[in-house]
Amino acid sequence: MNTIDAITSRRSVRKFKDKKIPNEILEDILKSAMFAPSAYNEQPWQFIVIDEKKLLDEIVNIHPHAGMCRTAALAILVCADLSKEKTKDMWAFDCAAATQNIMLAAHENHIGSVWVGIYFRKDYMQAFKKLLNLPKDFIPISLVPLGYSDEEIKKVERFKKDRIHYNSF
Ligand SMILES: Cc1cc2nc3c(=O)[nH]c(=O)nc-3n(C[C@H](O)[C@H](O)[C@H](O)COP(=O)(O)O)c2cc1C
Repeated sequence: MNTIDAITSRRSVRKFKDKKIPNEILEDILKSAMFAPSAYNEQPWQFIVIDEKKLLDEIVNIHPHAGMCRTAALAILVCADLSKEKTKDMWAFDCAAATQNIMLAAHENHIGSVWVGIYFRKDYMQAFKKLLNLPKDFIPISLVPLGYSDEEIKKVERFKKDRIHYNSF
């Protein structure tokens, strides 16, 4: 799969087969996350791999739009680690780039995923910190449930020429 094919054919997956993700693929996915660009190359992220069924089921109770965790093989919680950041206010962007890399690397390996937003919702952030016993410097940004897709993935067209502007609007 080339990069543009991967980007344009990826779709959110919210229903997964009961099948484990091999460790070497998971490591590839996490490695891809760590190759994301970050401001001043600070790489201010931490990744919590959640593969215990009990925890995945618990997430459904703390996030109303994370029902897909019920069938996910695992989920990766992408956290900003403020202790690793010297510049201010860039970590959310860095973690967003890492999140996108996770999804594209998963897709390359025929694994479905979906971005579940956490950042900005103080109640969700607090609930994840408590559930996973995270240090105070960690800020949960996004959750990516992963698994082999049990959905039909439809092709879409999103290219809009009228959103492109040269030099001025
Ligand atoms: C910041 C962000 C937060 C999102 N939060 C959720 C969520 O909580 N639950 C969910 O099912 N999908 C969530 N999504 C996925 C979007 O709904 C999805 O990406 C969008 O509908 C486009 O579909 P596609 O991913 O198939 O291209 C989120 C996506 C982003 C970028």
